[in-house]
Amino acid sequence: MIDTLKKHIGEVEKFEADSPEAVEAFRIKYLSKKGLLNDFFAEFKNVPNDRKKEFGQTINQLKTLAAEKVDSLKEALESKGAEQPIYGDLTRPGEPIPLGARHPISIVKNQIIEIFSRIGFNVSEGPEIEDDWHNFTALNLPEHHPARDMQDTFFVQTDPDILLRTHTSTVQVRYMENNKPPIRTISPGRVYRNEAISSRSHCFFHQVEGLYIDTDVSFADLKQTLQFFTDELFGKSKIRLRPSYFPFTEPSAEVDVYWGLETETDYRMTKGTGWLEIMGCGMVDPNVLDNCGIDSEKYSGFAFGMGIDRIALLLHQIPDIRLLSENDVRFLEQFRSAL
Ligand code: PHE
Repeated sequence: MIDTLKKHIGEVEKFEADSPEAVEAFRIKYLSKKGLLNDFFAEFKNVPNDRKKEFGQTINQLKTLAAEKVDSLKEALESKGAEQPIYGDLTRPGEPIPLGARHPISIVKNQIIEIFSRIGFNVSEGPEIEDDWHNFTALNLPEHHPARDMQDTFFVQTDPDILLRTHTSTVQVRYMENNKPPIRTISPGRVYRNEAISSRSHCFFHQVEGLYIDTDVSFADLKQTLQFFTDELFGKSKIRLRPSYFPFTEPSAEVDVYWGLETETDYRMTKGTGWLEIMGCGMVDPNVLDNCGIDSEKYSGFAFGMGIDRIALLLHQIPDIRLLSENDVRFLEQFRSAL
């Protein structure tokens, strides 16, 4: 009995509350008509005479402590409320909260994702720090392949096996390793190349690469898909595919959109041709399919890759790629978009 009382004394001493409701619940628990103290007083008559004194003192101690606690907690809560007076005229209209703007890279990336999602492409992502296999070897670029120099690579520390990905084709390798055809995926992300920084190029930029693998995929499917994409992004547009070379596709092509030659800027942007190069593409080399565990006798596919930054420059007439990474709010505030 006495131990129970002591336990309650400990609890009362420790008790803290941060709301009037909690204080009231505490008061009811100990001090109300049906509270614990009344129970203890009721038990008093059963206590042997020689212990009545000790019991009585302890029970009174608990009662005083509980009552003091209630008073002090109430006081503390009241003075806390009084410390936060409400200043000013509550009927005044609020200050407008300034809304942020999405970064132009995100706007364009979201547009591209949205267009491809309409024809069944999902989005896949992967790590920016990669290994040699996913960035090069699996993509038909074995060690010492001269085409490795097409993308000047940043290596992590001195380990030649660990690098910053130079393209998001790495994600496509990972996707093929982990999924079975049919595959329809696009891989947006940041990539890194050891290039001199200028108004046209940066040592990091963003890509969206696409991959489509199924039975009987042809070059016509590729061209049709790209035509749909450019029509959606740039408005009805003429495209042309020029033969090119990538180690991971065969045949390979470079895609140009017809931009026009109406203004002086058009002349400058298209170097007087009216055409703008926007992406690389091709039929996935059977070696790549086999490297990634897909039967190249049964399946074929196409792939393409484009730089988001360059497209953002085009669509929003941004004169210098460096503006995209300087985080100048005067520049960023100009982009407001629902996407
Ligand atoms: N990975 C290539 C690059 O970064 C682009 C590309 C992707 C080309 C797919 C062809 C097919 O330059």
